[in-house]
Amino acid sequence: MPRKILVTSALPYANGAIHLGHLVEYIQTDIWVRFQKMQGNECWYVCADDTHGTPIMLRAEKEGVTPEALIARVHGEHFRDFTGFHVAFDNFHTTHSPETQFFANDIYGKLKAAGLIETRSIEQYFDPVKAMFLPDRFIKGECPKCGARDQYGDNCEACGAAYAPTELKNPYSAVSGAKPELRSSEHYFFRLSDSRCQAFLRRYTREEGRLQPEAANKMQEWLGEPGEDKLVDWDISRDAPYFGFEIPGESGKGTGKYFYVWMDAPIGYFGSFKNFADKKAAEGHAIDFAAFTDAAVAAAAGTELYHFIGKDILYFHALFWPAELALAGYRTPTSIFAHGFLTVDGAKMSKSRGTFITAESYLSTGLNPEWLRYYYAAKLGATMEDIDLSLDDFVARVNSDLVGKFINIASRCAGFITKRFNGQLAPANAELPAIRAIMAAAPKIANLYEGREFGKAIREIMALTDAANQYVDSVKPWELAKQECKDAELHAACSNALNIFRLLTLLLKPVLPALAGQVEQFMNIAPLTWRDAQSLLAAGHGINVYCHLMTRVDAKQIEKLVEANKESLAPTPEQGSQQRHAEHQQKEAIAASPWEPFCSIDEFGKIDLRIARIANAEHVEGAEKLLKLTLDLGTETRTVFAGIKSAYDPATLVGRLTVMVANLAPRKMKFGMSEGMVLAASDPECKTAGLFLLSPDSGAVPGMRVK
Ligand code: 2FM
Ligand code: ZN
Repeated sequence: MPRKILVTSALPYANGAIHLGHLVEYIQTDIWVRFQKMQGNECWYVCADDTHGTPIMLRAEKEGVTPEALIARVHGEHFRDFTGFHVAFDNFHTTHSPETQFFANDIYGKLKAAGLIETRSIEQYFDPVKAMFLPDRFIKGECPKCGARDQYGDNCEACGAAYAPTELKNPYSAVSGAKPELRSSEHYFFRLSDSRCQAFLRRYTREEGRLQPEAANKMQEWLGEPGEDKLVDWDISRDAPYFGFEIPGESGKGTGKYFYVWMDAPIGYFGSFKNFADKKAAEGHAIDFAAFTDAAVAAAAGTELYHFIGKDILYFHALFWPAELALAGYRTPTSIFAHGFLTVDGAKMSKSRGTFITAESYLSTGLNPEWLRYYYAAKLGATMEDIDLSLDDFVARVNSDLVGKFINIASRCAGFITKRFNGQLAPANAELPAIRAIMAAAPKIANLYEGREFGKAIREIMALTDAANQYVDSVKPWELAKQECKDAELHAACSNALNIFRLLTLLLKPVLPALAGQVEQFMNIAPLTWRDAQSLLAAGHGINVYCHLMTRVDAKQIEKLVEANKESLAPTPEQGSQQRHAEHQQKEAIAASPWEPFCSIDEFGKIDLRIARIANAEHVEGAEKLLKLTLDLGTETRTVFAGIKSAYDPATLVGRLTVMVANLAPRKMKFGMSEGMVLAASDPECKTAGLFLLSPDSGAVPGMRVK
């Protein structure tokens, strides 16, 4: 009996481009789904854009379009990119859909009826300029642990500390730059701390096959020991303005509160599947939706549900999502498959190095998407380990394995069949070791695909490909072709080789679907399924003319790709918002700085301001803010301790001219006598963008009076 399987990949946010990091997951899932389909299983692969939340709302506002227009445009771009990499969803929908809203309301309503929803008032930062509550990621400030500036509201990138946004020092809104205010508002919570949720999750996360061992361990850590009550209730609501679904109220009308994006995102898996099932029904092909989604019906039907995700979103998929489903009477995932992150040349993808590579740029540079599919497959395993795309290795591996070994088998033999044997094959030798080895290995390779051990599967297939090339090398068709009376041998050798090529194509088909399609066309065969691994082509089978199937990667193409992805040093939106914040704060501070009362010209005349050359500048041991300056006034020198350390490296000051108060009464300081003062501009408390020493126009010399 064929299995009935529903598969998902994580829903990409609808405000950014698909890049090579995303593609690890979509390619991994697509390979697995294609393998299941080749096995004859009923396997549906659905995805959607993840469209709700504050970042998408703000992005649309910035672009001057509605969120609906933004997500429609991005949906088109995402679909184009996925199709370009042969990621073949059965349905690619959107979470901003009536189907997703229906299931969000249904799940919420069932949890509420079960007493698992609670409202309570919480205090949160509010941006008074934008009139909105701020998500943690939109609040920045100084890390409460290490003092690093411009850190996010949830954790510090400098020291790794995690904290609440209210712990940040000098917080500011990353949207407007304004100082946020604490305000309280009513929120809706899913009561994850309820004993029913706890008991379910303890059982579920330990069940065989649900989670990878490292993920299961992580869950035990998050759940804690029984009685530890580590799970806290989950805040599932957000206040307007928000782009999302309004939470239904008692009357069915809205509550003025919205579902948090992470509440409706996974529900989008079912939304997309429902949209698909409805479309199929309209075509006259019924899919039993409940058999995949309802707890009781699914258990009876034995359907399976798998989520492929990145390890960063495990918490949402292995805790919140199964608990919501189970307690609302929906079926829970059969397994959750988490993968690691992508690094490029051993490091995090980087926009300045050009290794933050978009799917679109890869395709428009003319690189073959199947090269990347092959490379990722060769690197992927079933664990959460990160995978590295080494660009040199990519070129070497694709050229050697795919072109040098695999394609080489067909390109060395096909022409003889066409030219010398009217395109017809001789019977293949089923006893040939190279053929027997493939047939024997096919079930093992199937198990490796099933277990997501694609790297191991590729190694096995390449070992079989090596053996196939050894066979071709041993029979040397190009030499047989030159000899008299060797037609039968030549015919047999090339027919065996092409049969081997067909079998290897079958084994690689989940990874290289387009190439397999070309091979099927050239060999004049029906789409290959896994069952075909135990059969050979009949004698007399006619093939079509061979056209070259795949070119080599040229290292120059990779250089071009990296170049195309190098981002200039223009500020990112992020840096832009920091800059706006700084400007905003500075303006506020300046506006708050009081004017001094009038003084008379005589009073002003008492201050002897002089041009001074900084003859020497040095740090002062033990002083946090001071630099020791030696000032040359032309006729004499003075020592001044100036509080400008935060803004100046002493080495850069030596030699420059500035203005000093020359008749300030000498002051004894902890580090020595200070004989004057240099003049600098700043906001009143020197809190913001620093300090600016005054300089005269050129022509001024030390000792000149400033009036
Ligand atoms: O992390 C992300 O990119 C989310 N958009 C993934 C959502 S997956 C699912 F829950 F919808
Ligand atoms: Zn820190």
